[in-house]
Amino acid sequence: MKIETTHPDPEAPVDPRAVAMLPAVGGFPPSDRGLFLAGYGELCRVDLSGRRALEICGGFGKLAAGLATAYPEAEIIGLDLYAASGPEIEERLRELPGLSYVAGDAFDLSRYEDESFDLVFGQAALHHLAHDIDGLRREVTRVLKPGGRFVFIFEPLGHNPLFAAIRAWRFALAESGDESNLYFSQFEKLAQGFSKCEVQCFNILGYPMKALSDRMQSLAELVQRIDHRLMSWFPALKKYAANCNLVLTK
Ligand SMILES: C[S@@+](CC[C@H](N)C(=O)[O-])C[C@H]1O[C@@H](n2cnc3c(N)ncnc32)[C@H](O)[C@@H]1O
Repeated sequence: MKIETTHPDPEAPVDPRAVAMLPAVGGFPPSDRGLFLAGYGELCRVDLSGRRALEICGGFGKLAAGLATAYPEAEIIGLDLYAASGPEIEERLRELPGLSYVAGDAFDLSRYEDESFDLVFGQAALHHLAHDIDGLRREVTRVLKPGGRFVFIFEPLGHNPLFAAIRAWRFALAESGDESNLYFSQFEKLAQGFSKCEVQCFNILGYPMKALSDRMQSLAELVQRIDHRLMSWFPALKKYAANCNLVLTK
């Protein structure tokens, strides 16, 4: 399957529901605003009202709650090894009857029937599941309806040796052992069983400039515009970006 690489324009109009999800989900750095907007735009691309979506590796559950706020008539399930909880989550569960959280393993979705979801999604999640791409693909293609989509937002790409070195250094400083990069060969493996695979690429200058541009919104916006131009002029650069979103269609 041929993978399509893109670099969404940070200045392109975005679905207002995706914009509203940014503060609701919170925690994104200004340098990655374009990436998150493009990713949330993908979650909102199909009207989810009356439909069913599953977030895998949802962590504290904010993204599932943000999507349930955007689509109060959808059924949105947030799954993680540890079920999301706490006063904020309790409040969202009271407000949003379609929202629920479960403790479970992304590799074992046996509690869900075949072809029962319109959307399966995750954020900063695929690189935690990359040790068993075949197992993940089997489960997700099983539970997705025909035409359903599998969307991953904010994933690390490992083809750029400089960025891979910076990332390894940052994780060593943070003593974080559970992190890895992703490669196009893994996307090709994941894409088997899907009819379409798009990799949205972000952050060329944006990655080394991150520390500075996260302190200056205007610099972050400028760098995102420059990165977009660079990837338009030199398409081969996309593979060497630091981050990506992944959009697969069954
Ligand atoms: C980097 S966090 C991302 C959390 C959240 N998606 C976010 O954007 O803040 C990765 C999450 O993946 C979860 N996780 C890792 N392996 C998993 C698995 N096999 N099944 C379900 N969740 C898993 C972890 O518990 C953790 O909450």
